[in-house]
Amino acid sequence: MGRARHIIESQQFDLDFMATLFEKAELFSREGYDGNLSKQVMASLFYEPSTRTRFSFEAAMHRLGGSVITTENAREFSSFAKGESLEDTIQVLGGYSDLIVMRHSEIGAAKLAAEISSVPVINAGDGAGQHPTQALLDLYTLHNAFGRIDGIKVAVVGDLRYGRTVRSLAYLLGKFQQVELWFVAPKVSQMHQDIKDYLDRQGVKWSDTDDLDGVMPLVDCIYMTRIQKERFLDVKEFELANNRFRLTLDNVQAMREDAIIMHPLPRVGEIHPEVDQDPRARYFEQARNGLWVRMALILYVLGEWE
Ligand code: CP
Repeated sequence: MGRARHIIESQQFDLDFMATLFEKAELFSREGYDGNLSKQVMASLFYEPSTRTRFSFEAAMHRLGGSVITTENAREFSSFAKGESLEDTIQVLGGYSDLIVMRHSEIGAAKLAAEISSVPVINAGDGAGQHPTQALLDLYTLHNAFGRIDGIKVAVVGDLRYGRTVRSLAYLLGKFQQVELWFVAPKVSQMHQDIKDYLDRQGVKWSDTDDLDGVMPLVDCIYMTRIQKERFLDVKEFELANNRFRLTLDNVQAMREDAIIMHPLPRVGEIHPEVDQDPRARYFEQARNGLWVRMALILYVLGEWE
């Protein structure tokens, strides 16, 4: 990669970076931003659908005083539809903008873009690979709830096989002390071995289970995820994984009173809407936190952190 400050994967962040990020995000949530990025342009290039990531990045850039150029659906409305390569698109957008926020369906696409880009590239999700800015806002939400990450106990639930948010989150949690993780998934959706090997190297205790009810009273956080139909190659495997785990107002009563429920969203039935009224439900706050965290990240890649 060149000299630009890219955001590609969770492994690249250290504890000092995260502490500074959380301070800045907290400040923006309380006071907004005084500076002015009026001469800066952000390109948002999304080859896959998005609500939170695209809108929060674009809102963040507007709140920072910058401008945004975007396409609603790069697969259809950029020259990708005419056969243009990712490399050419990135080279061209680098001439129009000061940073590129990109979501792509292929693992490794963000890294490839960063290797040839003249401006910073932020990975907004690369297939089943990583979603590092989501993991940073997830960690910020956990930090706000508990005032610490060390010693935290988290159950990640659902599509762990194709879930980029849980992969990125596991990489971040592995940097802290005495973290404990439960991977709650049907057999066809279990977490990949590379993450388990990484957690072993980091000294993080983890276990595979499909007993959500058994895990619920033990943890600080239930992190639910959607079973991503679009990523399953075999419809039978999708059907085996789908609708296995569901939070309702009834079963969440097994959680500790000070525990929290998170979800990167969108949800499609794995959390009943009635759970929204439970004070432990933090997924909308989590989505909102994306705005403050992404404001701070845009400033970081533009070299605007003092
Ligand atoms: N959490 C998340 O990435 O949501 P979107 O797909 O809506 O951006």
